[in-house]
Amino acid sequence: MRSFGAVSWSPHASPPRSLERPDRAWRGWSQVPRCLQRYSAAVTHGEEHTVSEIRLDSYEAHFAARTRGMAASEIRALFAVANRPEVVSLAGGMPFLSALDLDAVGDLARQVIAEEGSVALQYGGGQGHAPLREQLAHVMDHEGVPAHADELVVTTGGQQALDLTAKLLCNPGDVVLAEGPSYVGALSAFSAYEAEVMHVPMDGDGIAPDVLAERLGRIRASGRRPKFLYTVPNHQNPAGVSLSEGRRQQLAEIAAREDLLIVEDNPYGLLDFKGEMRTALRSLVPERTIYIGTLSKIFSPGIRVGWIAAPGPLREKFVLLKEAADLCQSNLTQLLANRWLSTQDWQGLIEAFRDGHRERSDAMLSELTAEMPEGSTWNIPAGGFFVWLSLPPGMDARELLPKALNARVAYVPGAAFFADGSGGEHMRLSYCYPTPDRIREGVRRLGSVVRTEAELRDAMYGEHH
Ligand SMILES: Cc1ncc(COP(=O)(O)O)c(C=O)c1O
Repeated sequence: MRSFGAVSWSPHASPPRSLERPDRAWRGWSQVPRCLQRYSAAVTHGEEHTVSEIRLDSYEAHFAARTRGMAASEIRALFAVANRPEVVSLAGGMPFLSALDLDAVGDLARQVIAEEGSVALQYGGGQGHAPLREQLAHVMDHEGVPAHADELVVTTGGQQALDLTAKLLCNPGDVVLAEGPSYVGALSAFSAYEAEVMHVPMDGDGIAPDVLAERLGRIRASGRRPKFLYTVPNHQNPAGVSLSEGRRQQLAEIAAREDLLIVEDNPYGLLDFKGEMRTALRSLVPERTIYIGTLSKIFSPGIRVGWIAAPGPLREKFVLLKEAADLCQSNLTQLLANRWLSTQDWQGLIEAFRDGHRERSDAMLSELTAEMPEGSTWNIPAGGFFVWLSLPPGMDARELLPKALNARVAYVPGAAFFADGSGGEHMRLSYCYPTPDRIREGVRRLGSVVRTEAELRDAMYGEHH
């Protein structure tokens, strides 16, 4: 097994630049190389509507201050190009749905309208449909996470849960601690409320607790209050690693000792290739944990059903915030999800998803071994959707992207997953969606781009530059 790249994975890496170098703050789209911006704009709009013609300045005075840092994420910008049929996209995090029995879902949808139409097509309560919450508690129980239906609030996917969490907890300038790298949608949600993300480095065992403790001390010494730690402890997006059992205990101890809230985001916990389950932080420190679940990766992302499990006082505020955001979750999709979970073999579907992902992961790993030049490293995932690849020293994944797109393969540059714009030497490769054959083809194309770049560098600067 190859190891992680040494630089950004060391628990002793230098402090995040965002605190010391505000000029390096993440600016999303503006950090995408100009050539790619132009390429993407041309593909999206046709050559006659280029970026420069969109007159943002005439609206600027109307925008709220908190929107200043907002820009389309690199991933969104990429989709325009990556979704073209000739491109093998190793960029998106969409689950393959071929294992899902669409006829069965169609029958359930018909039953929902025929038998419960007057509820399904009506407004519902802010906390979510009670029978669905019972089922979601069963899903958590299947993973060994304790929960009662009354403790849950249904949300529009895990993404809305992240938005509501930041809305509940963050004032402008508050510090949020997060793994480095972190899920890009969480970074967007936190920055929308003007929180400042401070990363805590990870290695193959997940986030480093000793560095977390040191960072907490530094934040408090500067007179600021860390609002919460955001973590994806199982098969993390984007790094593909899981927090070790020992470190879970250590995080729980730190949370209890330091009065630190933990936001435990868990879309991938049931997708371990061997079906292994890990101890949830919610099990260890329930009174300090905001747990976020979702049906997106184990049933369907289109149904947009996620949930929050949180202690009473937080839960009451979440219900108020949910009502202020959209009154209530769609009853139609809640009732459909409820029927799915109460009548179908959803555990069997999860096993089919796991098997499919393991096959895809194997295809990616064997091709990476065959194709990638000396100096590249990557993790071996035990579940989830992602491989985190480190390029040979000196290469930058964002600079390489236009060349990769020309070679008809897409990935997400690592810098998208750091609030401070670091991580340039990494890229996230997703194996969740394309077929194994397409994955192999995509990695062959990527390997050729990276090898050509490595040869060019050797020719220009010598082999030991
Ligand atoms: C770590 C993580 N959290 C949350 C989400 C949001 O998922 P959804 O809103 O579909 O539940 C994703 C989606 O990729 C994710 O990877």
